[in-house]
Amino acid sequence: MGDVESPAGPAGHPRERERAEIAPGAVHVPGWLPVERRRELVGACREWARGPVPMRRTVLPGGGVMSVRTVCLGWHWQPYRYTRTAGDVNGARVAPFPGLLAELGRAALVAAYGDGAADGYAPDAALVNFYDGAARMGMHQDKEERSGAPVVSLSIGDTCVFRFGNTGSRNRPYRDVELVSGDLFVFGGPSRFAFHGVPRVLPGTADPASGLRSGRLNITLRETGLAD
Ligand code: SIN
Ligand code: MN
Repeated sequence: MGDVESPAGPAGHPRERERAEIAPGAVHVPGWLPVERRRELVGACREWARGPVPMRRTVLPGGGVMSVRTVCLGWHWQPYRYTRTAGDVNGARVAPFPGLLAELGRAALVAAYGDGAADGYAPDAALVNFYDGAARMGMHQDKEERSGAPVVSLSIGDTCVFRFGNTGSRNRPYRDVELVSGDLFVFGGPSRFAFHGVPRVLPGTADPASGLRSGRLNITLRETGLAD
């Protein structure tokens, strides 16, 4: 496992997973989503994946294709901008940003940072990413937004290794954290523009009670700062 911060504790006993500040403004809250909420989100993601803009692998400007499958809500992300219509997929207008995700985003900020943290926070875009066992995401910054509001990340299904780095480059120093089904990760403040990525997914680790037998769903909520 190298230097991944895994839950294995002394003598093989699982260590209690606790809220941790991974870097200033970057907070990991294990098990934040109750299992019923995970199930509800998995069902919603299945609907969102159908369209009006269907879930697909994003094609990069150089012709490469991302291994992750993505569907967007509120605003459609393509490398490297947000639009209301998905010119790189089927030209359809992206589905509206759901109220349930706005509520969840505000609750997530309070869980990560405390009371008052969600004042004025109004996420308006979500990227729903599905990882099969072979999918990865390279180190990158979320920097197409014109708002400095935190990014909220929710994980369901297979555990992954989430690499959280620094704002200067995609290289070390970084920390590898396991994101398990139900975990919340929020990055804002001095970590808002930190490089991050998913070097691997751990197949066979999903909790079937969440409604996802295999693979990993990640939902990130963002405030774009864009107006129509
Ligand atoms: C992302 O950086 O957009 C996704 C991160 C994740 O899958 O945990
Ligand atoms: Mn990202």
